[in-house]
Formats: sequence, C-alpha cells, structure tokens
Amino acid sequence: SGLITIDPGFKNTGSTKSAITFLDGEKGILRYRGYNIEDLAENSNFLEVSYLLINGELPTTDQYNDFSDRITKHTLVHEDIKKILDGFPSVAHPMGVLSSLICSLTAFYPNSLDPNNTDEEIQLSMVRLLAKMPTFAAWAYKNKMGHPVNYPDNSLDYCGNFMKMMFSLPSEKYEIDPVISKALDKLLILHADHEQNCSTSTVRIVGSSQASIYASISAGINALWGPLHGGANQSVIEMLEAIKADGGDSKKYLEKAKDKNDPFRLMGFGHRVYKNFDPRAKIIKKAADDVLEKLGINDPVLDIAKELESAALSDQYFVDRKLYPNVDFYSGIIYRALGIPTDMFTVMFALGRLPGWIAQWKEMRENNEPIGRPRQVYVGETERDFVAIDKR
Ligand code: CMC
Repeated sequence: SGLITIDPGFKNTGSTKSAITFLDGEKGILRYRGYNIEDLAENSNFLEVSYLLINGELPTTDQYNDFSDRITKHTLVHEDIKKILDGFPSVAHPMGVLSSLICSLTAFYPNSLDPNNTDEEIQLSMVRLLAKMPTFAAWAYKNKMGHPVNYPDNSLDYCGNFMKMMFSLPSEKYEIDPVISKALDKLLILHADHEQNCSTSTVRIVGSSQASIYASISAGINALWGPLHGGANQSVIEMLEAIKADGGDSKKYLEKAKDKNDPFRLMGFGHRVYKNFDPRAKIIKKAADDVLEKLGINDPVLDIAKELESAALSDQYFVDRKLYPNVDFYSGIIYRALGIPTDMFTVMFALGRLPGWIAQWKEMRENNEPIGRPRQVYVGETERDFVAIDKR
C-alpha cells in the first residue's frame, strides 16, 4: 500500500476524461460542449441545452422539435406512483420524495436493469427522466401541501407545465407569466452541468457498477441534497432570514463564519474549483435584480445578501482563501420571488442538473469506464486474537 496516495475529498484526483463541461476555476470560465455559459443563458433554452449536453451538438430545428415532442409525450407517470406518494408523510422533505420516485422507475421500467440495453432503450430512459422529473417534483410539493396532484399539461412548454403542476388547482386555468418562465428557464440552464462535482461523480460511480440509469440518477439526487452541495441554496435563504430576524447585522455573521471554533459557514460562499467569481453567480445576481424589479417585489433579504457579499469580498479572511459567492448565493432569492417554497430549492437544482447527470452517465457508459472503486490506506489494529464475550 506504499504505492497508494490518499487524497481526501479527491481534491487533486481526476476520475475521468470528459468532453462535456470545461471549467477554469482561476479565470471563472464555464462552458458546456465549448459554448460559454453566458451565451447559453442569454440565447438558448433549457431543452436545447439538455440536447447539447447529452448529444454533444446544438440541435437543428428538426432535431429540437423531435426531442422536445418526445419529452412532452412522456410527462405522464404511472397512476400507481400516486400510491407511493401517498405513503409519504407531509413532513417528508421533497428531495427524499423525488429520489424515491425516480428510483421507483426501476420497478415500472424493469428492463432498465439490463446492462445490455440498446442505445434506443437508453435514449427512451433519458427522455422519460427529463419528462417525468418535473411531474415528480411538483407532486412532491403537492403531497407536502396536502393538495391533490395536477396532471401534466402537454400544451405548455417545459417550465410552464412545471409551474402549472406546482401552483394551480386541477380545475383551474393557469397562465404562466413570461417573466417567471424565462427566469426559471435561465436558472435551469445555469445548473445544467458542472463536471465532476459530488452528485455527478456519484451518478458516474453508481452507473459504473452497471446499475440502472434511474438508480444512478436517484443516487445523484441524494448526493445533491446535502448543505455543502445543492442543499446550500436552501441553507442560504435560511441563513439570510436568520440574519434578518436577528436585527440584520451581517457583520456579526461574517465574524461567526471566520471563527474556527464556530461551525457556522457563510452559506453560498466558497467553491472547490472556483478561486474567482463563479460565473453562474454573476449571471444569477443580475437575474435576481431583473426578476424582482419586473415582478415589483421588494425583498429585504436581497439587501442583506448584497451587504454580506460586499463585506465578505473586502474581508481579509475571504480574500486570503479566495472565497467568492457561488451559484447558490442568489438563486434562492429568485426562487422565492417565483413563489417556490424554501424546501423546494434543491429540487429546482436537481431539475436543472438532470441533463448533466444524464450526459455524464452516458459518457461513462460509452467510454466503457471500469467500476469506480477507490483504494484506502489501512490504519486500524494489526492482527489480534478473538476474545470470548465473558472475557472482555
Ligand atoms: N465560510 C467560511 N469559511 C469557509 C467557507 C465558508 N463558506 N468555505 C470555505 N471556508 C474556509 C475553510 O474553513 C478553510 O479555511 P482554512 O484554510 O483556514 O481551514 C478554507 O476556506 C478552504 O475551505 P475547504 O472547506 O477546505 O474547501 P473545500 O473545497 O473542501 O469546500 C465548499 C468547498 C463549497 C464545501 C466550502 O466552501 C463550503 O462549505 N461552502 C459553503 C457551502 C456552499 O455554499 N456550498 C455550495 C457549493 S457551490 C454549488 C454546489 O456544489 O452545489
């Protein structure tokens, strides 16, 4: 084992070669398949970006229409899924519900368990995932509220359908505000992939054992849930609200974050790879301003966020450690403005990250990557004799 180097958190270990996402943490650059995130957020839409991530190229009009039609046609889920949903108490966190429902697809489509699935069958699984995840996400929310679920409306686009399932009653006519639809679409694009992060590595490693794509994506959702990863967007708003309730003194919390005897961290700050501004945070900060202005919302939490950001950026502790706001710092403010409840924020992240997980799973499979199996350096007891229970 002298040959084994341990690298806790894989801070300096590459697990794969990948042609999907390019990230330069020093310069703050993020590109999907060579296209800058700024260009995609401004000019593309979420389904087009999903196609790009999964297939490697932007679609032609025909390819786009075909892809989006297929997704629209698979939004409905098996009626028995409602029974699974009914089994969850209303206090269930929607992330746990979402990962369970995604994993239940292994039961409804058992041929996904066959590692020798044809490319066509795999394409279908990918379409199903993209189509059904918004239905599951909205249903997780409805379950929590104790409301009847809404069926998908295939006359609407991806975001419109999701918002309708979330926010209308089954009998109601629902019209999505284009400002909301555009803002949501942009957020999904910004979250769509981020190379070998914790959840994506989880998807690839579970997939490397030839588990079903549904099981692999379900595992990714669980990895995303934690507050150091996607769960940070929920923690950021909870932190900002706590600061507000405590009199709005952001400096006090900055000091807490710097205190090594205090477990408190400034949520939404810092990143394993970005040692410069997270380019997604820049776009989201501007989008938050735009959305609040267009919807005529004045959110005091946004002011606290800005105050905290500027205080941290000029503080030596944060400067020395190159800690900048990350994607999660401002996204929650937009979700709030759109009426999305706090414990659904990480679900929104999962909806956005889904095409990235799919693309990474597909790449892992096409590369014929070996099973993921890190090594260790054993530091426990050396050999010893068994002692009978009455002699211990
Ligand atoms: N507040 C205060 N100090 C921090 C923070 C923070 N948010 N982040 C890092 N540090 C300090 C840390 O204490 C350490 O200090 P020292 O060198 O004195 O021991 C130094 O900065 C390096 O931090 P690290 O924990 O070794 O860095 P990491 O790469 O292991 O962790 C991170 C990255 C994102 C988990 C961490 O920055 C963090 O916990 N941030 C808050 C949670 C968060 O916003 N997560 C979302 C990440 S972006 C989106 C996503 O992945 O989903």
